[in-house]
Amino acid sequence: MDKLVIEGGRRLEGEVRISGAKNAALPILCAALLTREPLTLTNLPDLNDIRTMLGLLAQMGVKVEHAGNAVTLDAAGLDTPVAPYELVKTMRAAILVLGPLTARCGEARVSLPGGCAIGARPVDQHIKGLQAMGGEVAVEHGYIHARVARLKGARLFTDMVTVTGTENLMMAACLADGETVIENAAREPEVVDLAQCLNAMGARISGAGTDVVRIQGVERLHGATHRIMPDRIETGTFLCAAAVTGGKVRLTGTSTGLLDALVDKLMDAGCEITGEKSPSHEAILIEAPRRLKAVSIRTAPYPAFPTDMQAQFMAVNTVAEGTAVIRETIFENRFMHAVELIRLGADIKIDGNTAFVTGVERLQGATVMATDLRASASLVIAGLVAEGETHVERIYHLDRGYEHIENKLTALGAVIRRVKA
Ligand code: EPZ
Repeated sequence: MDKLVIEGGRRLEGEVRISGAKNAALPILCAALLTREPLTLTNLPDLNDIRTMLGLLAQMGVKVEHAGNAVTLDAAGLDTPVAPYELVKTMRAAILVLGPLTARCGEARVSLPGGCAIGARPVDQHIKGLQAMGGEVAVEHGYIHARVARLKGARLFTDMVTVTGTENLMMAACLADGETVIENAAREPEVVDLAQCLNAMGARISGAGTDVVRIQGVERLHGATHRIMPDRIETGTFLCAAAVTGGKVRLTGTSTGLLDALVDKLMDAGCEITGEKSPSHEAILIEAPRRLKAVSIRTAPYPAFPTDMQAQFMAVNTVAEGTAVIRETIFENRFMHAVELIRLGADIKIDGNTAFVTGVERLQGATVMATDLRASASLVIAGLVAEGETHVERIYHLDRGYEHIENKLTALGAVIRRVKA
């Protein structure tokens, strides 16, 4: 298994281009299943999860054509509405084919995603919503079986805010008979990006980005071309890397409006952050002080502080001045990076879903192990400021969600290299 070797102590300086958003691209790739016409997507990130999803769609009979960071999907030949266990166990986002397949084919067999490192992550709300729309949905032998002649519009209420639950049900409702209203909907920008793509395909969705989304079902959707939005979690990860190294970095192809909560917290910590916008250009400029102040956070659904940035922000707090309290309210086991940060010399105490982080002057390089995607990003950030060499193992987690991260960090002055196992 590959690892990253990082020589800490370098201040990040320069410019980095932010890639397309993994968590917008994944549902939008599945939207191709809803039409017999070609869907072209641009600004697609080059990530393992994207390759996994494209492989799943191809297995179903979807034609996939690449051209640089664009892809054209043609689901006219869709003939196998099945997402097998072997694939779903490697990427739980495959659950996002459930809604589109049920709406397009009237049936779907999707492996029940197992748990994952950060939590049990059930999909009961996805199932409940399809049942409310008239779907016969059963879970047998580890698979979700959905059958229906045609889904019917319904009023749906999710018990908790669920991003992919909202996305699955929104896609299913596009072809339903009548109006669907999703209450307590997720407001994440990735949900808005999906809705914009679906409306470009002829869907009639309003309210995306608020907690009430209305979808007027239509008979069919047509092809379209859509540019994937910037990845706000990659944006946040590079902001944290610049902040913790006392750096000065311009992030291009992204904007502060995607993650106000994180920007506010980094400014509280002492960073200067400005947004740059022109018709042809958008960017964020961050300039960090030599040492940050500790800042407490509490994760919650958008627009609050994103759970996907909790691990990275904890790394920032490990060398900040003072003590920060970090509360994780979305997932039940999302502190696994803490024990690895402690191996680097961090002072962290965990009590249930709360972490108390007291900043130290310096971390010491060590060998640490990535356990999940964002935890691995947290360890890379810590390695950038640890004294000496840090070896981050099991970075296949990192490759799922960050496009060529070591190349981007090297271009900013970090000393980091990938060592093939
Ligand atoms: C999405 O996961 C993201 N993944 C996650 O990003 C992100 O952490 C999460 O939203 C929260 O923002 C994608 O978009 C592909 P949820 P999702 O459904 O949709 C519970 C990353 O690092 N829940 O919003 O699976 C669930 O257990 C990944 O890129 C149910 O109980 O998350 C969790 O506690 C990690 N039943 C909470 O709701 C359900 O049917 C929020 O989960 C659905 C969810």
